[in-house]
Amino acid sequence: MTNSAVQEEFLRSFHAVRPAVTAEAFGRGRGPDGRSSYELVRDRVAGHRRVLDLGCGDGLLLDLLARGGGRELAGVDLSPQSLALARRRPALRAARLHTGRAQELPFPEGSFDACVSHLALMLMGDIEQVAAEVARVLVPGGVLVCAVGGGAVGGEAYERFVRLLRRAGEHSPARIPALGDPRVRGREGLQEVLRPAGFGDVEWEIVPIDIGGTLEQVWESVSGLYDLAPMEERAVVRLREDFLADVADLITPEGTVPCGFTVHLASAGLTRPLRRTSLPPR
Ligand SMILES: C[S@@+](CC[C@H](N)C(=O)[O-])C[C@H]1O[C@@H](n2cnc3c(N)ncnc32)[C@H](O)[C@@H]1O
Repeated sequence: MTNSAVQEEFLRSFHAVRPAVTAEAFGRGRGPDGRSSYELVRDRVAGHRRVLDLGCGDGLLLDLLARGGGRELAGVDLSPQSLALARRRPALRAARLHTGRAQELPFPEGSFDACVSHLALMLMGDIEQVAAEVARVLVPGGVLVCAVGGGAVGGEAYERFVRLLRRAGEHSPARIPALGDPRVRGREGLQEVLRPAGFGDVEWEIVPIDIGGTLEQVWESVSGLYDLAPMEERAVVRLREDFLADVADLITPEGTVPCGFTVHLASAGLTRPLRRTSLPPR
């Protein structure tokens, strides 16, 4: 099995059990201006009619895009269970939702004006192939807008959770496969991936998103991380106890816990049409 196949198998089995985990955590996340990270991506493709969501999960971003009206929408995801949830959304009745890989998009050349991806691009292997496929299905002048995961906001619940998780991991031999290509998490790396596919300069913005809430909500969000998947149940129970004790001092008078996570918002335009690199030469 190739590395990408191993990663994709892991993601498929993880999301079979937790098909909407990202939307549950980040759907109620808010940036400094009150918008969620999904809304920030949506607003960057305002005015684009045909939009494809790569790694669309349970369809929250597509749903927000559909509410603007007049759009042709499509989504691709590895997880049939996540897509089943997306198909249940009334706003997505007309959307084309495909189970499959972003490395092999089932659309003809020039099918979309924009391609979006929320917390998914950084998980994809064979990333050059993804970039080539996105360039192929976009019209020249089309845009790619993606949110990729950054790090924790200092002192808040997410940072504390990551510290406890690392400590727990020192006692647990089980590891998840390394996911995606780390270059995608930084502006220069993403530029290096996108440039050969025909994209221009990458615009990059770092936005803190607070996914805080009640203690239980915050635990639900942080414990949805892929890294917990191989942990034994009793290790997760211990991690939960440690976490709840550790963040007790952060609880506000309103009973919520701040949990900041930085999201990197990247946009790049397709500056030249691409040869059909994903197809074998004639
Ligand atoms: C962290 S979840 C985000 C889901 C959704 N975009 C959201 O933000 O709610 C990542 C998603 O990317 C999908 N994914 C990862 N690699 C993929 C690939 N190579 N092709 C298609 N989907 C992929 C996973 O199946 C998963 O649903």
